Amino acid sequence: MVVLGLETSCDETSIAILDKGIVRANAVYTQSIHSRYGGVVPEMASRAHLQKIDRLCRVVFDEQAIGLDKIDLIAVTDRPGLAGALLVGISFAMGLSCAGAKPVIGVNHLEGHIASVTLQHPELAFPFLALVVSGGHTALYTVTDFGAYTLLGKTIDDAAGEAFDKIGKMLGFTYPAGRQIEQMAATYTGGNPILFPIARVEREGINFSFSGLKTAVKYYLAKQTPQFIEENKGHLCYSVQKAIIDALVRNVEAAVKLTAINRIAVVGGVACNGALRAALQSVWSSSVFFPSLVLCTDNAAMIAKAGYENYTRGIHRFPSMTPEIEENQNRSGLLKHKSGLQTDSVTAATPP
Ligand code: KG4
Ligand code: ZN
Repeated sequence: MVVLGLETSCDETSIAILDKGIVRANAVYTQSIHSRYGGVVPEMASRAHLQKIDRLCRVVFDEQAIGLDKIDLIAVTDRPGLAGALLVGISFAMGLSCAGAKPVIGVNHLEGHIASVTLQHPELAFPFLALVVSGGHTALYTVTDFGAYTLLGKTIDDAAGEAFDKIGKMLGFTYPAGRQIEQMAATYTGGNPILFPIARVEREGINFSFSGLKTAVKYYLAKQTPQFIEENKGHLCYSVQKAIIDALVRNVEAAVKLTAINRIAVVGGVACNGALRAALQSVWSSSVFFPSLVLCTDNAAMIAKAGYENYTRGIHRFPSMTPEIEENQNRSGLLKHKSGLQTDSVTAATPP
């Protein structure tokens, strides 16, 4: 089965081809326009997707020397994300579906991130724990199969990547700041972090909170001179990164204890972070799994994989034309039952 994957939920336009579960192409265009604004500007993101998606699709088809006739399934991210940005991908997918009489399936973006790890690690057996750490999401799931997730906990405010980005902005980095913070943190070799507080969330579930860290750093910086901040940037970045990593590791430890599952997948943009990888590997060594860097950040290969696995299991949701954004979706959209699919949104694959 050849699957065409489409991803436009935020600031990456991506098109992928998956053939029998193997990635043949995974073209990713990252919108650079947002860096000057310190975050993603939704309207600009939608326009940039519109400008790129058709051309990117043609390039992938040309490179692979295939056409729509060779595609068996179209998988598109339809939630959660920026409504306008999602609609570009969904409309494009629907257009291709109509033109080629191809089935089309809606994929939850977080499900895509979880599936990303399975592209390179077929040995990762179910059940496993999934730590989704990205710019928009931070959550822990038990994964018993593709399409079957139990939410163990999530952030009650900022996502881990958002914390990197917002604190990075305070420190003078451009958006997205995670990689820049990691690089700057690596210049500090003292091993003596400034102890920024990380909240323990005592509510039900293994939840996360990063907004207190952001505030603590803000007040800390307000008391320093610009020269001090500049001269100690490595130390500051090291300390911020360590606080975020410690919180993530602590909650994974709690999830392992709660579920007695010690196979862990770590996915999403923050999973690119080398210090996070090292910290998790130092505890769980070879039972912690990461996608390659290009598959951690937003990409269509992971959407194609999740769509393919769900479709072959008979889990099929027609893409929603009214993308349900986080607030309407229990934040992550992945609920405590199979695939988070509501029965009224499951329809046949036949295009109109
Ligand atoms: O998964 P992703 O591409 O988009 C979302 O679905 O949100 O993740 C982007 C996030 C950004 O917040 C970015 O700062 C963060 O991933 N990120 C990193 C690193 N690389 C990307 N955070 C920490 N260290 C990194 N090396
Ligand atoms: Zn993402």
